[in-house]
Amino acid sequence: MDYIFLSIIFTICLFTIITFFLFRSTTRRITRLPPGNVGLPFIGETLQLISAYKTQNPEPFIDSRVKKYGTVFTTHVFGERTIFSADPEINRFILQNEGRLFESSYPGSISNLVGRHSLLLMRGCLHRRMHSLIMSFANATIIKDHLLVDIDRLVRLNLDSWTGCVLLMEEAKKITFELTLKQLLSIDPCEWTENLRKIYMRVIEGFFCIPSPIFSITYRRAIQARKRVAEEFSLVVRERRRERERRMKKNDMLAALFDSDGDGVGFSDDEIVDFLVSLLVAGYDTTSTTMTLAVKFLTDTPLALAQLKKEHEEIRAKKGESVSLEWEDYKSMPFTQCVINETLRVSNIISGVFRRTMTDVDIKGYRLPKGSKVFTSLRAVHLGQDYFKNARIFDPWRWQKPLDPTHFMPFGGGPRRCPGYELARVALSVFLHHLVTRFSWEPAEEDKLVFFPTTRTQKRYPIFVERRSKVV
Ligand SMILES: *[C@@H]1O[C@H](CO)[C@@H](O)[C@H](O)[C@H]1NC(C)=O
Ligand SMILES: *[C@@H]1O[C@H](CO)[C@@H](O)[C@H](O)[C@H]1NC(C)=O
Repeated sequence: MDYIFLSIIFTICLFTIITFFLFRSTTRRITRLPPGNVGLPFIGETLQLISAYKTQNPEPFIDSRVKKYGTVFTTHVFGERTIFSADPEINRFILQNEGRLFESSYPGSISNLVGRHSLLLMRGCLHRRMHSLIMSFANATIIKDHLLVDIDRLVRLNLDSWTGCVLLMEEAKKITFELTLKQLLSIDPCEWTENLRKIYMRVIEGFFCIPSPIFSITYRRAIQARKRVAEEFSLVVRERRRERERRMKKNDMLAALFDSDGDGVGFSDDEIVDFLVSLLVAGYDTTSTTMTLAVKFLTDTPLALAQLKKEHEEIRAKKGESVSLEWEDYKSMPFTQCVINETLRVSNIISGVFRRTMTDVDIKGYRLPKGSKVFTSLRAVHLGQDYFKNARIFDPWRWQKPLDPTHFMPFGGGPRRCPGYELARVALSVFLHHLVTRFSWEPAEEDKLVFFPTTRTQKRYPIFVERRSKVV
């Protein structure tokens, strides 16, 4: 651990020194930046950031600075001066002006992992095209008519095998991985998917280490694992191209990607593979963590769990013998939607997004020079006492009254809003439905939330499950 930590610090220093000398001349322009502290030379406040998040408080770093400087402040983390925003209006402004004043900006280490052609790194019209492609693949109509059947079936299939003590986080990951592969490539769970998942887990680990290709073993392993996943996908893509020539059609993301060839500018296999890998990244970890945390919050809030159970038992009672959930069932779970929103609000797996100014930008009396790094903290708003009463407490009932939509953006906003938001909601709802109607459970061990480098529970949330004798 110490070894990794040292190499992180060393790399940060190295990069900072290089950036410092390269860009010294350009940062000297006269500007009015938000107040703040850029910390030590070179490493800035990076160490404060890392150590702050070792506590159980979800936003220690931002909280203390907001108290001192207000909701926008300047700091210096991960090698670069960065403007943090914990202000709902500014956040909205930044997200809405994507492509005009701001563009997404991620470090090279991330792009190596997701691939050059990933949605995260695409800009301009290619991004628009891909974004709308996913939207039209995962919109409500398509989920209703096609995807829901598989979500329901795969969730039930997974729950069938649960007995005794299960690590909820692992089980949830298995479910979302299988769902994603089914939706992207029409591949049902089998030995191949299970092997691929094991390789893929190493890619994910790479996101959570602060990367340095030279020093970090985890990161190097992640890059290798990514290559293997991409190779496996390439084989599938090639096979499917052959099938297509024989006019065999499937209804999945890959087919949609092939079909968009029709515009005259087709995608190469490499582009398609990168794109698929990045969608797997997007769909897998976030949804499974949210599933786990929803169950943890419910377990810790028995009244909410009781009300959720009642809602789902009523749905069950109406359905008689039919076990599978339909769209109408999904649409009649108002309290479940409150639970999901509240889980997203309290935990928000993606705590915020990075942007870079494309030109000098004036916001609220400040001038951010062209090329400034900006961090839009979505979670800081979700957890802000000014926007939500008792903001740090899990209270699903607060959603029964209308709330200001600008204070809640768990999927981001603007043109880059996560296109899978509805799909994630449906998967969560179906999972909760089958879980509460089939099982009762209790935590097997004390487990707690940690927030760095991402939100999760420390022990992957082990629970004892017991099958309920007869469902309603
Ligand atoms: C969803 O996308 C399909 C095309 O893939 C389109 O026909 C349909 O109108 C869209 N539905 C909604 C609700 O946007
Ligand atoms: C949950 O949040 C979404 C915004 O992401 C909102 O449209 C919806 O109305 C909210 N649901 C409830 C029950 O408040």
